[in-house]
Amino acid sequence: MGKIRIGMVGGGEGAFIGAVHRTALAIDGRCELVCGALSSTADKAKRSGLAIGLADDRSYSDYRSMLTAEAALPEEIRMQAVAIVTPNHAHFDVAMAALDAGFHVFCEKPMVMDMTQAQALASKVRETGLVFGLAHTYAGYPLVHQARSLVAAGRLGAIRKIIVEYPQGWLARMEEGGDNKQADWRTDPARAGGGGAIGDIGTHAHQLAEMISGEAVTEVRAELTRFVDGRRLDDDAEVAFRLSGGGKGHLLATQIAIGEENGLRIRVHGEKASLRWLQEEPNSLWFQPIDQPAQLWRAAAPYLDDHVAALCRTPMGHPEGYLEAFATLYLLFADRVAGKAGNDKILFPDIDTGLRGMAFLEAVIASDHDGGIWRKINV
Ligand SMILES: NC(=O)c1ccc[n+]([C@@H]2O[C@H](COP(=O)([O-])OP(=O)(O)OC[C@H]3O[C@@H](n4cnc5c(N)ncnc54)[C@H](O)[C@@H]3O)[C@@H](O)[C@H]2O)c1
Repeated sequence: MGKIRIGMVGGGEGAFIGAVHRTALAIDGRCELVCGALSSTADKAKRSGLAIGLADDRSYSDYRSMLTAEAALPEEIRMQAVAIVTPNHAHFDVAMAALDAGFHVFCEKPMVMDMTQAQALASKVRETGLVFGLAHTYAGYPLVHQARSLVAAGRLGAIRKIIVEYPQGWLARMEEGGDNKQADWRTDPARAGGGGAIGDIGTHAHQLAEMISGEAVTEVRAELTRFVDGRRLDDDAEVAFRLSGGGKGHLLATQIAIGEENGLRIRVHGEKASLRWLQEEPNSLWFQPIDQPAQLWRAAAPYLDDHVAALCRTPMGHPEGYLEAFATLYLLFADRVAGKAGNDKILFPDIDTGLRGMAFLEAVIASDHDGGIWRKINV
């Protein structure tokens, strides 16, 4: 099977996540980067492409030139999919143009800026029948899939409570307005959207809760706070939520928690058992049945479900992490682009995941705006 040829938009000099995508897509040998329009300025885009070894004539000055030039190449050479790793405000235009030009899309989260864009993009994906993947990284960890499988098999019974938290500390003081590009756009409503911490990391927590529980977050009650003076978007979010199965939850997303790195953690409590998973220790999953000793489930262990074991690359004790989680998303994406039916048991974050994430985000912002009242999520 040939490699899926990818063109990247964003991820130029000094950018963060583009380089992670480039490493990850190459890990399993199923994808290759063939071209890119890596920056918002033409010179930098060109220079950035050459610096990572792209051919001169396939290192483009902007994404529109890339789409036009690639569409004109012979089919066996041209890119097949576009990876979008720009700040949030550019996702929609690039994704729509890529789909219109006949290319599959693998897009960063949060998917777009608002529900209007999300619905237009979803219609476009359905109309074109092209593959759309969303980079919800944590859906790439094997033990997250095992957690989902334990819930689906009824090992926890009905879910009563989910506590999911994503604390970071890197925005504890004013970082925007200077050299910190990542802080600058994340705190700017025109480039980040209506959510700060809630959009940037709260959407990951929401996706994780829905993925593991197999349920929908149906209602939210939220309070968004800007702790740092002069900041334009929330740097702290507290959200109470209700689940489609009758359970309840609490979601915390904060970027002012000094000392916290990427402490994404989820605890799921059912009527028969609980489980907990921490992103900074991703190869361990704790399962606690009622009145029994706690069980530590480990990545690559022989007792994992077959579809989960298939997502592990290294033997027990040789840790896999962030890059491999991204690689798994690219692997699942490559399968779909190649027309292979995905394994039903393995969730792949797609346009519906993106729609749900945007609906959650809008409901949280609306709830906060209205003084913290319950808001239904309609999607
Ligand atoms: N899935 C994850 O775990 C994860 C982690 C970090 C960031 N992200 C997401 O990835 C995206 C990028 O975040 P980042 O931290 O890498 O940002 P960044 O500021 O480090 O990099 C953004 C890059 O996009 C380029 N760019 C902007 N507009 C462009 C355009 N129109 N055409 C071409 N290039 C353009 C910039 O020049 C820059 O190179 C965001 O949507 C963010 O939410 C996701």
